[in-house]
Order: sequence, then structure tokens, then C-alpha cells
Amino acid sequence: MSERKIGMWLYSNGGGDKIQKKIIKKLKDRGIDTLNNINLRNAIAKNAHILFHGDEHRGEKLDKLDLMFSYNAGEQTQYQMYLYQALNRVIPMINSYDSFALTEDKFHTSFVLRNHGIKTADYKLCHRDDGHELKKIIKKWDKMVYKPTDGWGGVGLTKIENEANLDMLMPFLNQMDLRYFYVEKFINYDNTDFRVDIVDGEFVSCYGRKANGTDWRTNVTSGGSVFMREANDEIIKVAIDACKATGVDIGGVDIIYDREKEEYIVLEVNGIPAFATPEQEKMGLDFNAKKIDLIVDLIDKKTS
Ligand SMILES: Nc1ncnc2c1ncn2[C@@H]1O[C@H](COP(=O)(O)OP(=O)(O)O)[C@@H](O)[C@H]1O
Ligand SMILES: [Mg+2]
Repeated sequence: MSERKIGMWLYSNGGGDKIQKKIIKKLKDRGIDTLNNINLRNAIAKNAHILFHGDEHRGEKLDKLDLMFSYNAGEQTQYQMYLYQALNRVIPMINSYDSFALTEDKFHTSFVLRNHGIKTADYKLCHRDDGHELKKIIKKWDKMVYKPTDGWGGVGLTKIENEANLDMLMPFLNQMDLRYFYVEKFINYDNTDFRVDIVDGEFVSCYGRKANGTDWRTNVTSGGSVFMREANDEIIKVAIDACKATGVDIGGVDIIYDREKEEYIVLEVNGIPAFATPEQEKMGLDFNAKKIDLIVDLIDKKTS
């Protein structure tokens, strides 16, 4: 087989630097070279080529790589996303641009999941001038959550408990110059979730997060904490189906249990689910080795 070479951009914090080294070594053992730290911020497109101008590799043609593995900031700039999209038109990427862009948007993700028969919270999206739709829906749903469609870490989520709440919130939303409103039915759940990691259709790991006493959001950035939690067959199936529906090769699926409907629902699919940090590994989260192996297998397969 001819020599293979891939580009990689993986986060360095929270133990990411060590993960990079392990992946590079395992790929090397299979005859695959890695150009590391390929942040598209430092690339320039010129005619048929996307040229990388980082410190180490001057003028490297990214369009000639066998694959690009992009696993860094979820929030990328428009420039990075624009080049991600262009590059993926000519070489394979993990995750694909289409699937990554899809999972970055909560409405599009829920829409696709529902069309694949995967359970999500009921939601509604309407034009900013149709705020009266929200009035109708709060009467029906009792409680709902307003969500920015491109948010993360629980930031900007607003629980709306009744009509008076909504009336208070509307002037603020109207001021924000939004294009649309996206709201979900507030799910009656126990303030814990499951984060299930899937690589190439295979189950990697499951852990839980629980909201701290004063918040209804499980995000660590909202004060939530990670705990050890076993998956079951049903949860694993939901997570695998959600990754297949959204098209991600690697996905971290957030799942909660709806106590009213007595079923698991998918809250979101994360296209760059973090490896266990050194602290989490000490806690007993020991899935990094398996995840690395599955990612290396996947890269090997996609470049063969
Ligand atoms: N429809 C909902 N009903 C109840 N709680 C929700 C709902 N949607 C989200 N949450 C809570 O808020 C947290 C963050 O929501 P999520 O949609 O995952 O956005 P983010 O991308 O900010 O993490 C979830 O982990 C969950 O605890
Ligand atoms: Mg989330």
C-alpha cells in the first residue's frame, strides 16, 4: 500500500495532548503519518489547494491528505467552518462537515432525529414575528425551555414556567434581533443524564452527569458533576441510532429519561465528545484506550 498521511487537529487541554501522542503513535504503527495541529485558521486556499501555514509544516497541501481528523473546538469561526466544508469536498473528514455542522445546530439535529424515528423532546421553531405561537404552546405544554440553536454548556437556556414568565421574557427576546424562536417542551426528569460515546457504530462508554441542587441543567459548566453510570441495551441502541441518523462517525449522545412518557429521549449529539480527563480517569472512567483504538481503526479503514 502507498504511504498514507492524515491531518489532525485535536484539543490539547484536559489531557488532550497525551491523547494526540497516543493516536499518532498507533497510526504510525499502521504506516499512517500524521500532520498534527492542523488548525484551519492557519490555512489559505489558493486555486486547487488549501495550504497550511503553521509553524511546522509550511505550505503543506491539505487537499492531498488522505483524511483530516478534526477534533477541537466545537465553536469554530466562520473561516474555519468555511474551509472545513471546502476541504471535505475533496478529502474525507472525521467527522464529515455535513454531520458536524448538523450536530452544531439543535433544531436541525432534533428535526433529523425525529425523521429517523428517534425520540427527542417535543419542540417548535417559529419565525421571530410569530411570537404568538409561543403563547399557544405554553398553554399546551405547561413548561418549556427556550434554547439558542447554536449554544453549548447550557448557556442561554431559559426555562419558561408559565404565561406570565413568557410575557416577561418576550421583550428581551424581541430586543435580541433573533431570526427565530426555538423552544422545547420541558421534560420531567430526575436532573441526571447519560453521555454515551459511540465510534463507528460501536459503543465506547457511558457516564452520567447530575445537576447541582439549584439548577435543572446537567452541564458541568452549569455546576453539574460527572458520575459513574452504567448504560443498558436500550440506551446504547438509542445512541447508536442517533449517530447513524446524524451521520457522525464519532458522537457523544446526551440522553435523559422522560418520567411522564417513561422513555429515553435524545437531547443532543456532540460531534467532539471529550476523552476522559486525568481526574475523571482517576474516578474510574477508563474508556480512553478503547476510544483511541476505535478511532485508529476508523482512520485506517477510511484511508485504505
Ligand atoms: N427539554 C428539556 N427539558 C428539561 N431539561 C432540559 C431540556 N433540554 C435541555 N435540558 C437540560 O439542559 C441541559 C443543556 O441542554 P442541551 O440541549 O444539551 O444544550 P447544551 O448544548 O447547552 O448542553 C441538558 O443537559 C439538560 O440537563
Ligand atoms: Mg448538552
